[in-house]
Amino acid sequence: MQTCRLAVTVNGQAYQREVPVHHTLLDLLRDHLGLTGTKEGCRMGDCGACVVLMEGEAVNACLVLAPEVDGCRVTTIEGLGRPGELHPLQRAFVEHGALQCGYCTPGMVLTAYHLLQQTAGRAPSEAEIRAALAGNLCRCTGYQKILQAVRAALGEGGAA
Ligand code: FES
Ligand code: FES
Repeated sequence: MQTCRLAVTVNGQAYQREVPVHHTLLDLLRDHLGLTGTKEGCRMGDCGACVVLMEGEAVNACLVLAPEVDGCRVTTIEGLGRPGELHPLQRAFVEHGALQCGYCTPGMVLTAYHLLQQTAGRAPSEAEIRAALAGNLCRCTGYQKILQAVRAALGEGGAA
């Protein structure tokens, strides 16, 4: 099996790993780094469960080959907040009951966090929020509470 050695910074921590060249960023995070907050759904780029930030851009980790990540900065759900000190987006999801099984939640939160980065200083429009979350599927909530949570967290012009 052909492998490659790569260096990556995840949530501010530097890692080096030897990985099979066909492994994805999702495999790297979950199987090689033990960061299982990023979820595996379709592995086809359709569900958004695996969304993380790579060099500040939201990507489906299942569609990025691990060798492409060499030298990059990645942010996962483990990099936002911590137990007892949630990120405002995470707190809004809890307060609005915006999760049930929780499988979609890391991807939803990372996608909303990316929107927050893009619109820092102003509240995103309803259309912007809906467009940003369009690639994130949820089988449980019916989406309304997720939209409420994101509106609440981002509604103060980047208060989150
Ligand atoms: Fe990556 Fe579904 S697991 S988009
Ligand atoms: Fe279950 Fe969204 S809370 S898939």
